[in-house]
Amino acid sequence: MTSTTAHTASAAHRAPALIRLRDVPDLAQSRVADAHRRHLNPALMTLMRLGGYDDVRIVRAAGPYLFTADGRRLLDLVSAYGALSHGHNHPRVVAAQRWFDDRGEADLLKEFPSAYTAALAHNLCAVAPGDLDSVFFCNSGTEAVEGALKIAQRHFAGKRDRFVYTENSLHGKTHGTLSITGREKYRAHVRRFEDWPMVPFGDLAALEAVFAADTEQRIAGLVLEPIQGEGGVVVPPAGYLAAAADVARRHGALLILDEIQTALGRTGTLFRCEAENVTPDILYIAKSLGGGVATIGATITRADIQKNAYGKIDECLVHTSTFGGRNRAAAVAMEALAVAVEDDFPGRAREIGDWLRGELEAVRARHPDIIRAVRGTGLMLGLEFHPIEFKGWANPLRLSGLDRIVAGYFPGIVGAELLRRHDIVASFVLNNPHVMRIYPALVATREDLAVVPRAIDALLTDGVGKMVERTVAGAVRRAGLGALKTWVGSR
Ligand SMILES: Cc1ncc(COP(=O)(O)O)c(C=O)c1O
Repeated sequence: MTSTTAHTASAAHRAPALIRLRDVPDLAQSRVADAHRRHLNPALMTLMRLGGYDDVRIVRAAGPYLFTADGRRLLDLVSAYGALSHGHNHPRVVAAQRWFDDRGEADLLKEFPSAYTAALAHNLCAVAPGDLDSVFFCNSGTEAVEGALKIAQRHFAGKRDRFVYTENSLHGKTHGTLSITGREKYRAHVRRFEDWPMVPFGDLAALEAVFAADTEQRIAGLVLEPIQGEGGVVVPPAGYLAAAADVARRHGALLILDEIQTALGRTGTLFRCEAENVTPDILYIAKSLGGGVATIGATITRADIQKNAYGKIDECLVHTSTFGGRNRAAAVAMEALAVAVEDDFPGRAREIGDWLRGELEAVRARHPDIIRAVRGTGLMLGLEFHPIEFKGWANPLRLSGLDRIVAGYFPGIVGAELLRRHDIVASFVLNNPHVMRIYPALVATREDLAVVPRAIDALLTDGVGKMVERTVAGAVRRAGLGALKTWVGSR
């Protein structure tokens, strides 16, 4: 017997015990958790367990709501970090996907022009600010950023190849995007392309200084989020974007805008840069472009930049993606964009956002020693908490070292309490331990959201000490003190 046949025989003998797709809805939650722990991200499972998320089984989702196996209806304020502007399973977006599937068309089409991709590119350029009229489609945010960095460098034929970015920015977690992501935690132990200049967000003087120091003219672009999302829902000073664009352009560099969280209406205009009267040279989007159904990202630029970067026949395949711009995703994104325009997402975000912000300001006024600020605009909102003041109730926490975790994750504690007591899903932003994001679906109504200020007010009225006590006790009960202590040790 040759080794190949021996291998085949033994493989046949040990037929793998695959879980069948149709059995997934009935998998016990303990099995789901176990498979996650073994095969995905064990530390994340522990974090979920500490917060009481691990045993919640979501079985259905619609609009701003998630529905659990045990009959709860949860209001989703995380919205997949802002990707769910259309809410879960938007009927028109889901129907577009079904319509496409029923036609039996090719989804992946690489050797022929795709009608759906062409139509989506046409529509995007019709709504994009200014003279942006050239699109590259990909599958995620970080890939859209990579496309932006690459097209900028190629536009300058490699003569300019550095980028300026901002402290606390988040543009993705792949190598290129980590080079412009302003949080060390995500970059530690990872070899980046280069150490490019980082400036504080909103600080024009620092930006001027960086460009002034670029005597060799190596800076290709300035990369900005118009509102920093993960940095803490930080709106820069009025006029910053236009002035920053001016600085970059005076020095011959491009303005590259990350509208991954802000695009398609969340902040009250279809693109945030419109509110600031700024047209970037390169704009990239992802998240809500897929309407919560498709995974799709896009890097949008001017025809001259596209031409310089990839204009020759032998350059036309220099930047590609196998799955980027597939027909099904393009069809879904066309409908998602149409919904955002026809249902006036920007107007909804302005109207409901102004009201919600007012309600949250009223909660802040009642608890000024706990809430420092309500941040953001439209329905891209954040609550900034003061650093916790530890009082007598915290002595046991101090002894076990848990006070550091509590201090570093207070919005996480508020989130865990909102879930447990008020059926609301809310969590901290990634780069700021004091800010909780409030990013509801743009299809949510005032009636859907009225519970939010009420619930936060009720929790804060209970007092920080009670909330912390309850959450820590629950975490210890669920995960054991050992898990918490390991966490303390790792921080
Ligand atoms: C502003 C911003 N840019 C880029 C990204 C990366 O997007 P993705 O997670 O799809 O790679 C994110 C992700 O949260 C983001 O918030």
